Amino acid sequence: MHKIKYLSIYNELKKTILDGTYPIQSKLPSKRILANFYNVSVMTVDNAYQQLIAEGYVISMERKGYYVNDLPEHRFFKQGTSILDEHVEDENNISDIQFPIRLTYFPHHIWAKLSRKVLSDDLNMMDFQVNPQGLIGLRVEIKKYLEIYRGIHASIDQIVIGSGSQAMMQLVIALVGRDYTFIMEEPGFPRLKNIIRLSGMKLLTIEQDDQGIIINKVTGLHPTVLHITPSHQYPTGKVMPVGRRIECLNWSILDEHRYIIEDDYDSEFRYQGQPIPAVQSLDKSSKVIYMNTFSKSLSPALKINYLVLPKTLMNAYHNIKSVMPCSVPIFEQKVLLEFMKEQHFERHLNKVKKIYRKKALYIIDKFKNEKLIKISGHETGLHMILTFDSKIEISALDLIFYQQSVHLQKLNYFYDNEPKEGRDYMFEYTSLDDDEIAKTVEIIIQALNEQKKSF
Ligand SMILES: Cc1ncc(COP(=O)(O)O)c(C=O)c1O
Repeated sequence: MHKIKYLSIYNELKKTILDGTYPIQSKLPSKRILANFYNVSVMTVDNAYQQLIAEGYVISMERKGYYVNDLPEHRFFKQGTSILDEHVEDENNISDIQFPIRLTYFPHHIWAKLSRKVLSDDLNMMDFQVNPQGLIGLRVEIKKYLEIYRGIHASIDQIVIGSGSQAMMQLVIALVGRDYTFIMEEPGFPRLKNIIRLSGMKLLTIEQDDQGIIINKVTGLHPTVLHITPSHQYPTGKVMPVGRRIECLNWSILDEHRYIIEDDYDSEFRYQGQPIPAVQSLDKSSKVIYMNTFSKSLSPALKINYLVLPKTLMNAYHNIKSVMPCSVPIFEQKVLLEFMKEQHFERHLNKVKKIYRKKALYIIDKFKNEKLIKISGHETGLHMILTFDSKIEISALDLIFYQQSVHLQKLNYFYDNEPKEGRDYMFEYTSLDDDEIAKTVEIIIQALNEQKKSF
């Protein structure tokens, strides 16, 4: 029995090291915490650690604890991937759903009704190519929405519809040219970073303070595109105050070849006070490329995004648009157009905002007496950040989250230069139902209570 316990602890730790849950050089849970957790003696845990040390996975540092050894990079597979995933698709699994996302509360009935209407009303629809910028009617609706909710004034000619943020970034790259260096916030959105790098563009990530990206650190670079998420920094959840927004704009006008991409990906969801007007609405010098998506506000499966181009890029756009056809099918565009025109979009946003707000308030209430957790980034958007106090042994917490498949993403994942000991976690509570949220909260509280016993 004793041997089996030691082996299962050993196997579990090895697995978490190999899949990158515990990255190289990170601290592992103490023997005492693990013994408590597995309900075994400290000696049993010590045996598991000794085996891992013998095999070279772990090193022990006197009076500090156990750490993941500095193993060669190729032995690690980032969370969520395995060797099998990379090459073989399971033929018995015919589901295309990669990540079950329930954040949308998608209005199926209305969408079905409008789809039928579009199909029966417009018999010629399939005979034509879509305008490269997207349907005029849909752009009119987007323009109206942006005016009312984001303070953005643009002509429909400045709006370009496309499929996925990758298509939008590719368009920006085509517009500015390949000499540009992209700058992104650190931490930031890994998918976009990868798109930029895969396109062969230079990318720098710049650290943030409590107001957002420290733009004054970006000097001497030329030409440059700065990507920011001012409404709700992804992932930290900070809202960029107007002072820093103006600093970014001031930075952009110092050089003709500087642009800002304002990525407004989840700005629709503001739970307290008024929506904060977009940076684009403050832009007097045509420097801001505004980017948004229906992935968060409606459905990630739709894959409909858009840009509002600054007037300074319109000539460049008209020169290339004939080779950049619109990547969103006409049918989806027509249905979305009807959806917006009949005001379902606003109604849908109001409905889900109430649901998400209730979920957020539930979590805040549950943690209100918990001094070891700080909640931030919850005023806007679809996720919040939980920061655990320095008294908490983070590696022990990680193990519990891993074992119980807790829906928290360590913020380390979003960094180019990972902090040594990350205490921040992204909680995408809007994609969980109420029971799942309650369970997650309970696991966290229990894990903290367990640790408190030894304070
Ligand atoms: C920062 C940021 N930008 C943009 C997007 C939207 O990406 P897409 O519309 O390609 O799903 C997301 C989605 O998570 C995001 O987090």
